[in-house]
Amino acid sequence: MSSGNKEPELQNLVIVGTQWGDEGKGKIVDLLAEYSDLVVRFQGGNNAGHTMVVNGEQFISHLVPSGILQKKICVIGNGMVVDPEVLIKEIDYLTEKGVRIDPEVLLISQKAHVIMPYHKAIDAAREGCGKSKKIGTTGRGIGPCYEDKAARRGIRFIDLLDEDFERNVRHIAEEKNFFLSSFHGLETIDVDALISGYKTFRKRLAPHVTDISVVIDKAMRNGRQVLFEGAQGTHLDIDHGTYPYVTSSNTISGNACCGTGIGPKRIDHVMGIVKAYTTRVGEGPFPTELFDETGDFLQKKGAEFGATTGRKRRCGWIDMVMLKNAVRLNSLTGIALTKLDVLGGLDEIRICTSYKYRGRQIDDFPVSLNILGECEPVFETIAGWDEDISGIRRFEDLPVNTRNYLNRIEELTETPIDLVSVGPGRNETVVVNTPFKP
Ligand code: GDP
Ligand code: IMO
Ligand code: MG
Repeated sequence: MSSGNKEPELQNLVIVGTQWGDEGKGKIVDLLAEYSDLVVRFQGGNNAGHTMVVNGEQFISHLVPSGILQKKICVIGNGMVVDPEVLIKEIDYLTEKGVRIDPEVLLISQKAHVIMPYHKAIDAAREGCGKSKKIGTTGRGIGPCYEDKAARRGIRFIDLLDEDFERNVRHIAEEKNFFLSSFHGLETIDVDALISGYKTFRKRLAPHVTDISVVIDKAMRNGRQVLFEGAQGTHLDIDHGTYPYVTSSNTISGNACCGTGIGPKRIDHVMGIVKAYTTRVGEGPFPTELFDETGDFLQKKGAEFGATTGRKRRCGWIDMVMLKNAVRLNSLTGIALTKLDVLGGLDEIRICTSYKYRGRQIDDFPVSLNILGECEPVFETIAGWDEDISGIRRFEDLPVNTRNYLNRIEELTETPIDLVSVGPGRNETVVVNTPFKP
């Protein structure tokens, strides 16, 4: 592992989750936002729950980018799907906590899609009806909203502000109500109430809505640093994740461009957030999942409950087959390893280095879920440590076994570990190297 900080350079950085979400993206974005001018979220919606802890106080954001506590310009990208009611509540929640959120600070893309009540109703109906495969979604209407985007019958913020809004929504809602009542036997949506509610939301949010591609471009031309915040994780990506047990957007770094309206040459650095072990919420295969007392230990010590739905997260060992997949899919240039403190107290720690499938070694993450579901993890074992590492701030002060673990991850992923997080607080971090000098 290299040590010593680089001099600060102007950099545009993308931060993505490498596993199945909840890797600690919120904490790292909040930390690095200090050295950025704009923080831009490029996909997902309020299925995300990003936690920041500053001076012992916890903030959870679902839609507002995690740069907000650092008083940076925060941008909701066109790749996002936004429930306006949730966004307004979040603005109010942050304002109550003393965070200033006016239209100069929070920008919303004209092209971001709006989650409508029928999206939430359809999400819940599909998950609860027993007719289709249960994904274990967050129930926030994310999938149905992205479906409408692809089907070209979505409502974007620019459409919400348009004088044809009411006519458009009546037309779309007719079809949704037919589906809800005739196929699912459910109550229909009250379209008049929907329209009047959304007109209130639009009045409140209109001052924030703008062409964010132009704003980001201008900022970059003026030498400003931009941090792009991903939600979910690489293995929840609609194309590259464990389909169909995925979310409905591209979560990988390439979407930082599509989801904001900038070209790929504008990205300098891609940081992958890696939890020191693996967690997953919802359904789907998970080769290194633990069903024993070690799994319980990680769940309890790591407080692994979903920040959005409160569901218990499934826990298992770190998985290099997954992480190598993430390195390739995102072109990771660095790693932030989080929750390392949680592993303290275990006699030994396991690293999955490959899978075994019907007697054959597998090194590349399988696309077929039938194969993935049958894969047995092949482990390497590293000695654990008992020390509480949460007070440590320098790499060389970490216990030797902790450093062995980090060095091995770096070796196996062939990617430098830039940051090591040893606690939820912003300052509970060992900085090895960052694109922005803290
Ligand atoms: P995100 O969705 O990737 O932003 O992650 P979440 O906020 O959903 O989940 C991460 C959880 O771990 C949050 O409760 C964080 O406060 C917490 N956390 C982040 N980094 C660390 C760390 O290094 N150690 C510990 N113990 N907790 C951490
Ligand atoms: P952050 O940004 C963990 C999971 C859900 C479900 C699947 C599809 O906090 O890391 P959706 O509601 O998106 O249609 O659900 O994706 N999921 C997440 N899991 N962290 C998240 O976000 C997630 N967002 C969605 O549990 O399995
Ligand atoms: Mg989360």
